[in-house]
Amino acid sequence: MKSVPIDKTIQRSNEPILKVKGLKTTFITKNGDVRAVNGLDFNLNNGQRMAIIGESGCGKSVLAQTILNLLPNNAQVSGEILFQNSAILNQSDEQMVALRGKLIGLIPQHLSSLNPLMKTHLQVEEAIQPDGGSQEKNDISRKMLNLLNSVGLRTYVSERHPHQLSGGMNRRVLISMGIAQNPSLLLADEPTTGLDTILRHKTVKLLDRITQDRSLLLITHDINVARLCETIAVMYAGEIIEKGSAEEILENPKHPYTEGLIASMPSRGMSSIPGLSPSLIEIPSGCRFHPRCPLATEQCMKIHPVLNGEQAGVRCHACS
Ligand SMILES: Nc1ncnc2c1ncn2[C@@H]1O[C@H](COP(=O)(O)OP(=O)(O)O)[C@@H](O)[C@H]1O
Ligand SMILES: [Mg+2]
Repeated sequence: MKSVPIDKTIQRSNEPILKVKGLKTTFITKNGDVRAVNGLDFNLNNGQRMAIIGESGCGKSVLAQTILNLLPNNAQVSGEILFQNSAILNQSDEQMVALRGKLIGLIPQHLSSLNPLMKTHLQVEEAIQPDGGSQEKNDISRKMLNLLNSVGLRTYVSERHPHQLSGGMNRRVLISMGIAQNPSLLLADEPTTGLDTILRHKTVKLLDRITQDRSLLLITHDINVARLCETIAVMYAGEIIEKGSAEEILENPKHPYTEGLIASMPSRGMSSIPGLSPSLIEIPSGCRFHPRCPLATEQCMKIHPVLNGEQAGVRCHACS
């Protein structure tokens, strides 16, 4: 897939819209504690686009669910999340309802988030005005059609159920719902999953367009899609193991895991990273990547490396 040109003229501010500090999300299960997010720190500036990349199961979706407080009852969360300088962890359901969709929008990973029994227009209208709003029915209906058209869907789509639409169309419906209330921060969780190359490219262009005037946290395992963002954080076993500008990460990766991810891209030969992601119930001691790492030494097995920089850095004894 060709990379999407990034508009460098956008005004970005250095004021963080989202600050995540020492975030941990653990699921208590009968098999043990699943440490899905395990010590995350990052800042996302106003108007900035940041990608979180990593293999399946490393905690990316759980991060988005933690930010929006959409976790099941067996989840325990600690650390800090600041949105526009206000702490949003442990907020009441009422406070979260005021935040979700309106200030922080979500494009969920799974198409099953759409209700199979409801026509598209009802689902998009509900995203525009969740329960209790006071907008006129005609206004909402007009907004719904504008929204569908703005993501490249024709008017007839509004009268269809999800099973009558293609996967690409349903993805666009979800994207329209994510921006329905014009949030200043958009969390997009694998928005290109299951799309063919052409549709993926179109969706990246669409994401580029709808995030010209808002911040984006883009969760993806597709590094080509991550090119849309200015910065990339690479996640492994619940923590960030490398971060920096997208250009630096893609052209000059330092961590052997990041190198492996990039080498696994079709355009770079599709060589896979040896071994499997660790169980998040029994996370390896020392560097979490050491059992799969070609550079691992005794130090890597024993001592957990720190991320050696705030804006850009790598968590590695062997390459830092
Ligand atoms: N409700 C849950 N209960 C127990 N474990 C969960 C739950 N939700 C997610 N997990 C586990 O958390 C880990 C991270 O999942 P997820 O964030 O969905 O990964 P991904 O990076 O692919 O988005 C996985 O090991 C997953 O099995
Ligand atoms: Mg996921």
